[in-house]
Amino acid sequence: MGSNDSQENGNLLSRRELFGATSLAAAGLAAGSLIAAPLAEAIPQSGKKHEPLLPFKYDIEKTEGWVGEAGSAKEANVDEFPISQSIAGVSMRLKPGGLRELHWHAIAAEWAFIISGNVRATVISPNGQAEQSDFGPGDVWYFPQGHGHAIQCLGPEVAHFILVFDNGHFSEFGTFSITDWVAHTAAGVVSRNLGLPPAVVATLPKSELYITPGKIPPPIPEELRGGDPDSNQFPHKFRLGAHKPLQFSGGTERVVSSVEFPIQKTLTGALMDLKPGALREMHWHPNADEWQYYISGRARVGIFGAHGRVLTEEFEPGQIAFIQQGFGHYIEQLGNEPTRILILFNSGVYQEISISSFLASNPPGIIADNFKLTRDEVAKLPKSYQGILG
Ligand SMILES: [Fe+2]
Ligand SMILES: [Fe+2]
Repeated sequence: MGSNDSQENGNLLSRRELFGATSLAAAGLAAGSLIAAPLAEAIPQSGKKHEPLLPFKYDIEKTEGWVGEAGSAKEANVDEFPISQSIAGVSMRLKPGGLRELHWHAIAAEWAFIISGNVRATVISPNGQAEQSDFGPGDVWYFPQGHGHAIQCLGPEVAHFILVFDNGHFSEFGTFSITDWVAHTAAGVVSRNLGLPPAVVATLPKSELYITPGKIPPPIPEELRGGDPDSNQFPHKFRLGAHKPLQFSGGTERVVSSVEFPIQKTLTGALMDLKPGALREMHWHPNADEWQYYISGRARVGIFGAHGRVLTEEFEPGQIAFIQQGFGHYIEQLGNEPTRILILFNSGVYQEISISSFLASNPPGIIADNFKLTRDEVAKLPKSYQGILG
């Protein structure tokens, strides 16, 4: 095998050199410059400092956001929360009859979870199939990037829902709204396209309405204007709150990935309920960033970003956490009230590796050597996935 192998090995980076490469990448150097760099520069110097971890907590509900007559919206994207590169969140409230007008999103898919109240949403798919569905607490929708949609509150209470977009650079305040388009298009074009006399076109909204007052819709939905199309074979609605949860001694978790909800290709959602005193065990996600919104109760989250870097933060309702792909983390429930967390991952495929599973997937001898433990001590370590410890 000899000469070929040694030649190839000569072209491979050693483990030590790879660590150097990783830290250079973390410092923001482009891959191209990394490859071109002389080898000596890729080797870390002793005592080299690594950048501290970025803040991973944001208090979205403490912000003022957009407030109108019929509702409000608060957002967290990279402008407000720089670490949140892959996911943007919005907390929206609609008053009874309040309408989030017809619109679409050019650069992101939209996922939503209803915390309280009821809304009716319409959505059109590029294949022409239209769908009209009612959503209550615990329900989820997913509108793929570009699908046109509208949302109206059914009353009698204010509807509060969390919107999650699969792009941290997305802004809810820069969406493609139908009034914005029509208001800025030549009146003659609008008149001809919509079949409205110029005098009526002149009365249309002069700028984007975004969220506007409306009448509470009837309990039984009206037919769609174009008539009901063939029933939609690819529904945009999933009842996450009613989904059978995974049970653990410390709580439950309901997970919706593209397996359970095929249209939801770019995100996975989860609803985690922690009993008082529970510990969501140490784990990481190989394929996705994690975004959390605290619905009720409190918790402490610890993250690990290699090179000895850790951060812990405490969370209460209305706050967001963002944990980067591959970063180790855990959640300690705090306080006497149960804690409910809405969790999103920026992949339609759910992946996780827990510390228990990792340890269980090794022979006792390796674990004993790794931790300097006796065999008896190793025998006491967990032998399988624990999820949420009670
Ligand atoms: Fe939207
Ligand atoms: Fe996680």
